[in-house]
Amino acid sequence: MSFSIVHLADPHFGGLADLAHIEGVEALVPDLEPRVIVVAGDLSQRARHGELQAARAFVRELERTAPVYLMPGNHDVQWWWRPFLPFGSAAKYAKYRTYFGPALAPTMVFPDAIIAGALTSHGVAWGSLTPRLRDIAVKGHLPKREAKRVKALFDAAPPAQTRVLVVHHNVLRGDLSARMGLARWRQAQRRIVESGAEVVLCGHDHQEKTELLEGRVVVCCTGTLSTRSRGGRPAVFHRVVIEEDAIHVEWYRWEAEQRAFRRSDVHAFARTRTAGATETAGAAAEAAGAAAAAEAAEGSRPV
Ligand SMILES: [Fe+2]
Repeated sequence: MSFSIVHLADPHFGGLADLAHIEGVEALVPDLEPRVIVVAGDLSQRARHGELQAARAFVRELERTAPVYLMPGNHDVQWWWRPFLPFGSAAKYAKYRTYFGPALAPTMVFPDAIIAGALTSHGVAWGSLTPRLRDIAVKGHLPKREAKRVKALFDAAPPAQTRVLVVHHNVLRGDLSARMGLARWRQAQRRIVESGAEVVLCGHDHQEKTELLEGRVVVCCTGTLSTRSRGGRPAVFHRVVIEEDAIHVEWYRWEAEQRAFRRSDVHAFARTRTAGATETAGAAAEAAGAAAAAEAAEGSRPV
């Protein structure tokens, strides 16, 4: 079994989208031969029609290679519509749905994997409020009902399917931002672990990070395709390769001189399969650097 996912987030179509990055992704993705492509939110900057239309054209291009899994990020939610009303909150998502269909956190099922989403972008909502005014409509939260829904999906899935969870907000603390994407993040992390997720794909922080949560859940926070990479660092997106005995998270980093993404780092996590269930045993190797970078520099194809 080898199931690969291209994992992108935060293109921010509108003033911030970097068209060289967008075109670089479009050029490379067919060679990566993903089974599915995940775009983990913030397709737009202000949820404007033109931005969402550009995002839809990008998605249509990606769909020529593989099915595309989408969910809205905080920038795709028109939170200024019905900002504090608990009822009628559907208005916040109406424009996103016009271009990408009714499902905000859909489920995709493959023989080797189930990909489920949990909506964390709720605009101005009680669950996302923090003491910081700047967090309004930026922070997300993972409601109990969303976590329960995902857990039920994962519980019902056959053992052969790897459980992959998509959320927009970063589940790990950003290294440069020093920020969590989710309010009440300890509770959210606990809910994610309890859901049975084996891999989590997220974005929002605009800095790539791959780590194990609670020693067993592989969490991938991918970078942005926009001009707002954290600390002015080169853009990064991920390819996640799930195999019987290991999960590899490959980082593809923008190389300005070549005007192309190249594989730069590989994080490998061993898995053990016990009586129909699979556990991630821990980080087998974090080959961040030399070997993978040298290999990538030689232009070798990903394994
Ligand atoms: Fe975001």
